[in-house]
Amino acid sequence: KKVVLAYSGGLDTSAIIPWLKENYDGCEVVAFCADVGQGDEELIGIQEKAIASGASECHVVDLKEEFVKDYIYPILKTGSVYEGQYLLGTSMARPVIAKAHVEVALKVGADAVCHGCTGKGNDQVRFEACFAALAPQLKVIAPWREWDMVSREDLLDYLDERNIPCAASLTKIYSRDANAWHISHEGGELEDPWCEPSKEVWTMTVDPMDAPNEPGSVTLSFDKGELVKVDGQALSPYQALVYLNDKAAAHGVGRIDIVENRLVGMKSRGCYETPGGTVLMAAYKGLESLILDKESLKFRESVGLEFSHVIYDGRWFTPLAKSQLAACESFAEQISGDVVVKLYKGQAVVTQRRSENSLYSEEFATFGEDDVYDQKHAEGFIRLFSLSSRIAALKAQEK
Ligand code: ARG
Ligand code: SIN
Repeated sequence: KKVVLAYSGGLDTSAIIPWLKENYDGCEVVAFCADVGQGDEELIGIQEKAIASGASECHVVDLKEEFVKDYIYPILKTGSVYEGQYLLGTSMARPVIAKAHVEVALKVGADAVCHGCTGKGNDQVRFEACFAALAPQLKVIAPWREWDMVSREDLLDYLDERNIPCAASLTKIYSRDANAWHISHEGGELEDPWCEPSKEVWTMTVDPMDAPNEPGSVTLSFDKGELVKVDGQALSPYQALVYLNDKAAAHGVGRIDIVENRLVGMKSRGCYETPGGTVLMAAYKGLESLILDKESLKFRESVGLEFSHVIYDGRWFTPLAKSQLAACESFAEQISGDVVVKLYKGQAVVTQRRSENSLYSEEFATFGEDDVYDQKHAEGFIRLFSLSSRIAALKAQEK
């Protein structure tokens, strides 16, 4: 019997190791830890910690470049934003983590995978939906749906009784999830949607009130929908995102405070920081606005809306997701060019854009004199465009 546990080094997953051994007849527990750019704080010393808690081995897998290139970039091309505001940071990382988790499980010959997600949340659904699509033969163990521990105190006592060291403190106010794209904050005072987030909530961005009085600016160059340069430098996808994060965070860009609908039915309140992502999304859409015609953009937007739910609900490894991504990929072939985004006290605003595929024509659009557009043509167009309204109104008058 062997189980691969998605391990973070935190209190919950530290307690899960002995719990698995005791409740699944002395099974061997292999720890798996995904590096999706959450920062070194969580990763330093994690192997030793896992072993000290009773894991037989600990696999740390670096997914940073893969996450940005094969998950974030494709999602960017769909323009997906959940419920109008959430840039889906946690949701986006789940498939890449789940895939690596399954790979470790298959490599070490495990018969089960285990995660520390709450039974009230989205993440359990996302991970398990990915497991089901990738390795349905693996059993899934979700301790939070099984054990009867409820508080951090219970978990600390549990570890204490077993003489397992854990540096976790009794109080941890927020439930956070970080990766290269974002950090989320839930719980604590945020559970009251009438309660304004305290300053301590935010960890990634400068308070817009304290941001510099001078605006910053960043130039992004895209080729076929992929970010190829930032401020003239060719960086790897992950490095480019880190660069954008640093720049945008310094100007307080990317904070949101929302109430969202979870897949499991309840509403939850969350604060999110997505500095670089906010700039990238604004830049990509700025370029799209120059390139896609009205009907194409409308279709891309409708796919993006649908896709935001696909991502949020954990349906990455499905034929539906594949076809939606393909549709947006085909539009993305055209998305090449440069965009300048101004950063100022929490705002990221596109101020310049240009593209070899631009459909924008100054000749046609000008309010000044032109010789390409005959304004008389508009009259016939408007008569036919509004013909059904005219007929209906005439009929109504006859009554
Ligand atoms: N509510 C967000 C989402 O569902 C963030 C979840 C954060 N997850 C976590 N384990 N803290 O995508
Ligand atoms: C979720 O799975 O929806 C996240 C819940 C949490 O904040 O832990």
